[in-house]
Amino acid sequence: MQEKFDQLKQMAKDELLSVFSTKNLFELKTKYVGKNGEITALLRGMKDVPASERANFGKMVNDLKVEVSEMFNQKEIELKEKELAEKFESESVDVTLPGKINKNGSLHPLNLVKNKILDAFCGMGFEVFEGPEIDTDYYCFQALNIPKDHPARDMQDTFYITDNVLLRPHTSPGQVRTMEKKAPPIKILSPGRVYRADDDASHSPMFHQIEGLVVDKGVSLCDLKGLLDEFVRIMFDEDTKTRFRPSYFPFTEPSVEVDVTCCKCHGKGCSLCKGTGWIEILGAGVVNKKVLEMSGIDSNVYSGLAFGMGIERITMIKYGISDIRTLFENNVKFLKQFNRR
Ligand code: PHE
Repeated sequence: MQEKFDQLKQMAKDELLSVFSTKNLFELKTKYVGKNGEITALLRGMKDVPASERANFGKMVNDLKVEVSEMFNQKEIELKEKELAEKFESESVDVTLPGKINKNGSLHPLNLVKNKILDAFCGMGFEVFEGPEIDTDYYCFQALNIPKDHPARDMQDTFYITDNVLLRPHTSPGQVRTMEKKAPPIKILSPGRVYRADDDASHSPMFHQIEGLVVDKGVSLCDLKGLLDEFVRIMFDEDTKTRFRPSYFPFTEPSVEVDVTCCKCHGKGCSLCKGTGWIEILGAGVVNKKVLEMSGIDSNVYSGLAFGMGIERITMIKYGISDIRTLFENNVKFLKQFNRR
């Protein structure tokens, strides 16, 4: 009998040697000490043991069971430790590895500047109205008091599609389209692409403008000055000054051109401002009464102011860009420099 027990113990010991996971261990445990296990089966054979030996037999089986279970428990502790160590190893993070860099895109400098201009004026109560890029002679010229023989109408300056339909050469038709649709008070910005037959380091056949229009009772050149002074402070910096020079546009009377102190030399004179200390940024004026009347607004009751600026020009001044063409080449190395600025 003892021999059989020893054999069983040895078998369990041997089998235990080839167990490498808690799952296999569990199976082995069931095989020996489970409900239908080999050692449990010994107890069931108790009935065949003579009564006088039963007590001893029972004790021996129990001892065996305790011993074998002890072996299994010991193995279980070892395996659990090993499996936990493996889990930690496989889930560990090497904090010395270089991080992954997410390359974020960035806005094109023209969009950065456009957004900044829109933000500045929207903060002063302006709304945005976008007009069509292909427009008629009426909206681009006639309704803006640009006479038939005006040089802007020349084929050399303007891209005509037919005699009457053209690529808008400025965003000023946005003024007319707004005044036709909306009764005063009006306070709008009209951004968008414009087209002119011009191509060199400071002119592109396609570029962007933003038009501004205010129509209300008692609007004057003073309001224009206040508005634009505030705008340049937001766009450039607090110390930037403006200068209004008399000019001429058929749709404004009086008309002005607005200069700002050079943002590079702050008015001392440098190559950017060609030694003058000033840089021109936009055209503006008090809306010509004829233009108000043509769009159905009573010029005895209402007056208006308008301004128009080139986004490329402002961008070039702000970032010191000397050739307009770099803004359209889509050279990533160039564009990356404007990231988050
Ligand atoms: N439309 C003019 C231009 O393209 C700019 C301008 C707009 C001037 C509004 C006065 C008023 O040059």
